Amino acid sequence: MHTATAQASPNIAFIKYWGNLDPHLRIPLNGSISMNLEGLHTRTTVSFDPGLEQDELILNGQPAPAEAIRRVSDILDLVRAMAGVSHPARVESENNFPTGVGIASSAAAFAALAAAASSAAGLSLDEAALSRLARRGSGSACRSVPGGFVEWLPGKDDRSSYAVSIAPPDYWNLVDCIVVVEETHKPVGSSTGHGLAETSPLQACRVADAPRRLESCKKAILARDFEAFAEITELDSNLMHAVMMTSTPALFYWTPISLEIMLSAARWRAGGLPVCYTLDAGPNVHLITTRSYLETLKAKVQSVPGVRRILTAGPGGPVKAVAPHGKIFR
Ligand code: PMV
Repeated sequence: MHTATAQASPNIAFIKYWGNLDPHLRIPLNGSISMNLEGLHTRTTVSFDPGLEQDELILNGQPAPAEAIRRVSDILDLVRAMAGVSHPARVESENNFPTGVGIASSAAAFAALAAAASSAAGLSLDEAALSRLARRGSGSACRSVPGGFVEWLPGKDDRSSYAVSIAPPDYWNLVDCIVVVEETHKPVGSSTGHGLAETSPLQACRVADAPRRLESCKKAILARDFEAFAEITELDSNLMHAVMMTSTPALFYWTPISLEIMLSAARWRAGGLPVCYTLDAGPNVHLITTRSYLETLKAKVQSVPGVRRILTAGPGGPVKAVAPHGKIFR
């Protein structure tokens, strides 16, 4: 029996991925840029075991639903084919952060799975190959493989679509202050949402302008220019949500409280606090600030009615191999 354990962080995208060129291979229509989230982890152990009849998946201590097992088995099949292994595997995965609250748990999950499964099968994949493998489970998972600030080079096919680090975690002391306004699971998941993107008449404009936004965002990060970063990050989030709202059927992820926080962020920024917002496929608001302003920002956010809780995370490192034992805590 061959076993390996890996740990990965989720990531928050500043320039978003929404819509695929190839949905099966998860080749995106545009590149994206994100930051890994330090202190939030998925830890996954994979054991290939000839004694098993089929793949097994335990998520946070509970047997997983059939759909989750299918997505995991698809990645295990790719690994088995690469390594010439035929045994089923037992996969145990645990998050130290709540699932379904607008933190991309699938990104951390598939990055950790790709690393643990390939290592348990005896493969030693380089970062690009690991990123490509993680991408097959969930597109944004390819960005949780390299560390720090990361760009997903969209590519045109399986070989050319993977993520690279553009700056290490300690390059810029940004913090993601995740404002949880709802704790329930999202009504329409991102895999379905990507498929609806092309029904919006705005998607073609969003995609055509993406190279410009990627360039501005990268430049702002490398120059640690918060004003420029805030402007492009908010624009990109608004563009993605405009596409969502104008898809058929329309997807509305914001709630009135999400909007209240977004408008407050603009006001706070005008008053001199470096803060901007970005939202993924859910109502929770990611407020980005710098470390020295975090406490001031938290105090302001806590005074907004309807805020359920706040999680915070600075820039995180790459996926890594870890010891299999022990619980993970923040
Ligand atoms: O990786 P997926 O299929 O869960 O898609 C992620 C989509 C967004 O989170 C909304 C945007 C992004 O780039 O992370």
